[in-house]
Amino acid sequence: MFFHQHATGVRLGNIVPDFSCETTHGQWDSFHEWKKGKWAILFSHPADFTPVCTTEIGRLALKQDELQSMDCLIATLSVDPVKSHNDWLRDVVAHCENEIEVKFPIIGDADRKISEAYGMIDAGTSSEQALPLTIRAVFIINPENKLMLSLNYPACVGRNMDEIVRCVKALQLSYEKSIATPANWPNNHEDIPMPDGSRSTAFKGSVFLLPTVSEDEAKERYPGYHSCDVPSKINYLRLVKQEDVE
Ligand code: BEZ
Repeated sequence: MFFHQHATGVRLGNIVPDFSCETTHGQWDSFHEWKKGKWAILFSHPADFTPVCTTEIGRLALKQDELQSMDCLIATLSVDPVKSHNDWLRDVVAHCENEIEVKFPIIGDADRKISEAYGMIDAGTSSEQALPLTIRAVFIINPENKLMLSLNYPACVGRNMDEIVRCVKALQLSYEKSIATPANWPNNHEDIPMPDGSRSTAFKGSVFLLPTVSEDEAKERYPGYHSCDVPSKINYLRLVKQEDVE
């Protein structure tokens, strides 16, 4: 058995590649320097002057204040030049009925160097198109420049900005903590059975202790945790209220 190794792309937990570039906010000598010590979202779109991308940049702009309040920067990118980004931004704003201001920078990656380093070029189209485009990629990068989460969508599916903000919130909550967020968090465990036969709504939006937290440590550090009863009787579904996360 053998594998063909993909040479490009970034992996979860690794430091993301640094780069210099042109942006709608001017020249950057270093992406790492720009985001220094902050969370950041690097968000690629296939091409300027295309319909889905136009809605995505507009909808992302509606989230920029919320993300800023979470100390999370946004930079978007496509393989179009900065001049094209600036011309296109007028359409983006108009299509949001002029109710937005796009405050985040858009990177021009005309030579595709960044897209190649991050594995954002759509391999499925590269053999068919003279100039392959970037996929819809989202990289969420922590203050130490480590890649914490990536999403890859094809050109035909626009992204959900609520999900991107939710991912940043979940990552920030679990950052350097011994917890993980359940499916559909924070809309989880809204009404759960308790050992005395009653039901409780107190654990809505709660999070799980990691399996690496011992029972002794759980009792000492998270005295209010609730272990969900399951047929195996193994105590691995240990819920902690968000406000009790240390
Ligand atoms: C769009 O944003 O609508 C789009 C971009 C590239 C290919 C297909 C659709």
